[in-house]
Amino acid sequence: MSLWGGRFAEETDRLMREFSSSIQIDSKMWAVDLKVSTAHTRMLAAQGILSAADGEKIVAGLEEIGAEIASGKWKFNPEAEDIHGEIEGRLFEKIGDAAKRMHTARSRNDQVVTDTRLYLKEHVEVLIDGIKELQQDLLLHAESHRETLLPGMTHLQHAQPVSLAHHLLAYFWMFQRDSARLQESLPRILSLPLGAAALAGTGFPLDRQRVARDLQFLEVAPNSLDAVSDRDFVIEFLANASICMMHLSRLCEELILWSAPEFAFIELGDAVTTGSSIMPQKKNPDAAELIRGRVGRVYGALMGSLTMMKALPLSYNRDMQEDKVHLFSGLETVTASVKLMSLMFKNIQWKTDNMAQALRGDFSNATDLADDLVEKGKTFREAHHIVGQLVQWCIKNGKILEDLSVEDLKAGGDPAFDKISAAKLAHKTVMAARRSEGGTSPEAVQLQLEKAKKVL
Ligand code: ARG
Repeated sequence: MSLWGGRFAEETDRLMREFSSSIQIDSKMWAVDLKVSTAHTRMLAAQGILSAADGEKIVAGLEEIGAEIASGKWKFNPEAEDIHGEIEGRLFEKIGDAAKRMHTARSRNDQVVTDTRLYLKEHVEVLIDGIKELQQDLLLHAESHRETLLPGMTHLQHAQPVSLAHHLLAYFWMFQRDSARLQESLPRILSLPLGAAALAGTGFPLDRQRVARDLQFLEVAPNSLDAVSDRDFVIEFLANASICMMHLSRLCEELILWSAPEFAFIELGDAVTTGSSIMPQKKNPDAAELIRGRVGRVYGALMGSLTMMKALPLSYNRDMQEDKVHLFSGLETVTASVKLMSLMFKNIQWKTDNMAQALRGDFSNATDLADDLVEKGKTFREAHHIVGQLVQWCIKNGKILEDLSVEDLKAGGDPAFDKISAAKLAHKTVMAARRSEGGTSPEAVQLQLEKAKKVL
């Protein structure tokens, strides 16, 4: 039985039925739909809108349907209009006429968005847990690499040495903000639309606060038109997910580069790499590439949902059925990507000798030489120029900064250089010198690690 057939004399065209059906997408929400219907029914019964007997029958029937779906005993008709109608139809088969009272003082418009909010809340919590686990993985590696040298880059050119711990912790903080954004969005997700009915509220004496408490929403949506017709919580989630994917993609890019033989800073384990069907020697960082590639899905979902909502008049429009296509695509992609990234960090081997080797002769200790001249009385601009010329001198003479003798420093650079200057050139010393709060020295990183553990 359709939910709305009375007004119609003829059948809906098959093409229209197929185009309009959303059950393939919204059947994911069966469990929250049962919870929402149960809370609604209990409230109706408590308010005397339904008889206690009908209320009990409905609640028991919904519970049975939940068990049937979970065990696979009952399967939805894949051609049905949506999950909400399917469940109501099944309830009628089980308990008869009482089922027809469940939809009192409710519309699919407030039902569907209540389901979506509840579903999103449950899955945002799972995503936050996934991000926490990834942060834990990063912390674990950072703890054992406070002294491991890595070329710090700008423009993908060697800039100044940093520790591997410092580099990994940079991502820790990105993910910390991602998880904070998701956490902060929860109160906006948990605003209860149910009770808005189709758009204008209802004449039945509802207790919306009770339903909110029952479903653990934090407030009752204050305007019925807004309640049924806004989807900003979907857009906000997809924006947050997009930012998180952007962060993941940067980390992916580095893992891909670092796996290349030209870097050879890491080897990803067999569990997260794949081979080639033709080249027997290959071991490819596909996991990182796949995540990087899937960023497009999430950005696409964000753009899709923004576009879907643009210029829609109040209140509900069927366009909005598309919200779940975008939401679920973004949600599943970001959640799986975070998990896979975490798995990569459980299957990573650091080639720390290659990192150190890459630093040799890279001039990433030049800033320290300029700083040394400043300490000896030069202005920074003068010092910068002198060291720039010294680098040129080294390149011309086939020398590298860390091997220069005091005589070399004087000849190619400035007479003011001395033993103290030469002693500053080891990359380890360069890294250790950056003791400012938030800097890369092992002591500063230790403080950062402690801060990171505290926020986690
Ligand atoms: N499947 C629909 C959706 O997700 C349910 C709402 C239908 N409401 C309507 N007025 N046709 O949006």
